[in-house]
Amino acid sequence: MSESADERSDLERMLDDLFPYRRTTQTHRRIPEHGEDRDVLLSEIALMAKAEDAQGDAGRVSGSLYSGDHEHYHFLAQVFEHFAHANVLQRDMYPSATKFEGETIAMSADLFHAPEPVGVVTSGGSDSLVHALYSYREQAREARGVRMPNVVLPITAHVALRKGAHWMGIEVRDAPLTAAYVADVDAMADLVDDNTICLVGSAGDYAHGLIDPIDEIGALALDRGIGLHVDGCLGGFLLPWAEELGYDVPAWDFRVPGVTSLSADTHKYAYALKGTSVLLYRDAGLRSRQWFASTDWPGGLYLSPGLAGSRSGGLIASTWAAMVSMGREGYLERAAAILNTNDTIKAGIREAMPELAIIGDPLFMTSFTSATDAAGEDTLDIYLVNDALKKRGWRMNALQLPPALHFCITGPNTRPGVAEDFLADLRAAVDYALEHRGEPAASGAMYGFGSMPNGDETLRTVMGGVLDAMHVAAPDG
Ligand SMILES: Cc1ncc(COP(=O)(O)O)c(C=O)c1O
Repeated sequence: MSESADERSDLERMLDDLFPYRRTTQTHRRIPEHGEDRDVLLSEIALMAKAEDAQGDAGRVSGSLYSGDHEHYHFLAQVFEHFAHANVLQRDMYPSATKFEGETIAMSADLFHAPEPVGVVTSGGSDSLVHALYSYREQAREARGVRMPNVVLPITAHVALRKGAHWMGIEVRDAPLTAAYVADVDAMADLVDDNTICLVGSAGDYAHGLIDPIDEIGALALDRGIGLHVDGCLGGFLLPWAEELGYDVPAWDFRVPGVTSLSADTHKYAYALKGTSVLLYRDAGLRSRQWFASTDWPGGLYLSPGLAGSRSGGLIASTWAAMVSMGREGYLERAAAILNTNDTIKAGIREAMPELAIIGDPLFMTSFTSATDAAGEDTLDIYLVNDALKKRGWRMNALQLPPALHFCITGPNTRPGVAEDFLADLRAAVDYALEHRGEPAASGAMYGFGSMPNGDETLRTVMGGVLDAMHVAAPDG
C-alpha cells in the first residue's frame, strides 16, 4: 500500500475496499441509453477478473477456489455457454438437463454409497441444507404431528442451518463439542425430544474440517426414530478419495446406518462452477417432502423440486461435465496433492511453532489457535498473526469461539513452494504477534464486540449495515 493510500480517511479506505473500481470504471445507476461496446465491456471485465484472481492463483487464499485450473474453468465455461440461456423448468425443450441432473445425482449417490440414486441438484451448500431441513420439518409434521419443531446439532454445524431454521420457525438446539472438537453425542442425546425433526453432523465442519462421530449420531438417530443429515458440503467430494488413498477417514456416508440424507457441494471439491451442490436422500419418500405441486393456479399446473423456479441449464450441464471430465483418476490425483500439502503444513506447525495449537487432526485443512502457557493464558493473539499474514499476501479464514484461523487447502495451494512459503510467513507472523502482544489487532476487527452490553444485537446491526453497503452502486467521490 502506498504512503498516500495510508493517509486516506477511514471512510475513504472503506469505500475503496468496497468499491475499488469506482475511480477506474463508470458507475451505472441507470441503464445506459445506448448499449455499450461489447469489446470495451469485455476488456473492462477481464481486467477486474485478472486483478481479483491474482491472489488465489498464487495459492495464497484459503478455501473458496478449489480447482484454480483455468483450463478446466475454460472448458466448463464452454459447456455452460451451450445451455446458459436454457431454463431447465421447460424439460420438454431441454431433456438434456434431465440427463445431466440425473447422472450427477447417480454419480454422487454411487460415490457416497447411497442405496439408491435419490437426490436433487441445488444451488449450493446452504440451499442443500435448507432443503433438507424443510423435508424433515414436513415429515415430522405429517408423520408425527410436530408443530414446534427443533433440530439438534453440534455448535460447529454450518450456520446456513441456523438461517434455514430461522426462516422456517425451527428451534436450533446446540450441542457442545468434546475435547476433540467434534459433536458430543451424549449431549445431543439429552437435547432430543418428541419435537426433534432430525439430527445433524458434519463431515467435515467448516471451522475446523473435522468429522463428527457420524456412526454414533446415526445410532442415536435410529434409537430415537428420527433422521440424520450429514453435512458433507465441504469435505464430501474429497473424503472418498482420501479413503481410497489410505487416509484414516471415519465412516460418514450412507454406509452408516441412520444417515438419511447427505449434502456435498459440487462447487467445492468436485470442481464444478459456483452455484451447485447435491442433496441426497436415503429414500424417495423423504425427498418427496420437498416437491411442490399446484393444480389450481391460473398459470397452469405447476411442479417444482425446490425453492428455485427457473434454473440455468448451463450450471447443471457444466457440473456433470466437471465430474465426467475429471474422472476418478483426476479426482484422486488432486486429492493426493491437497492432502499432502495439508500434511506438510500441519507437520511444519507442529515442528516449528509451539506458540500455536492445531485444532484436532483435520485432513484437508489446518485450523490453528494460540497455544496456552502454564497458567492457561493464550500465548498470543491469533488475530495479530492474521494481520501479519495479510500483510504478506495471505488470506486465511478467521474463526471465533475460540479465536483461530484456518487454511483450507485447495488446488492452487498445492503448487510447488506454496506450503513452504506459508510456513516461513506463518513463523514470521507468530513472531510479529509475540512482539506486539497486547496491541489491538486490525483483522478480526469485530473481536471483543460480542462481549459489550447488548453486544450481539449491536454486532448484528453493524453486520446488517455491511450488507446494506454491499448492495448499492459506488457512491460518488
Ligand atoms: C460444512 C459446510 N456446509 C455448508 C456450507 C455452505 O455452502 P455454500 O457457501 O455453498 O452455501 C459450507 C461452506 O463453506 C461448509 O463448509
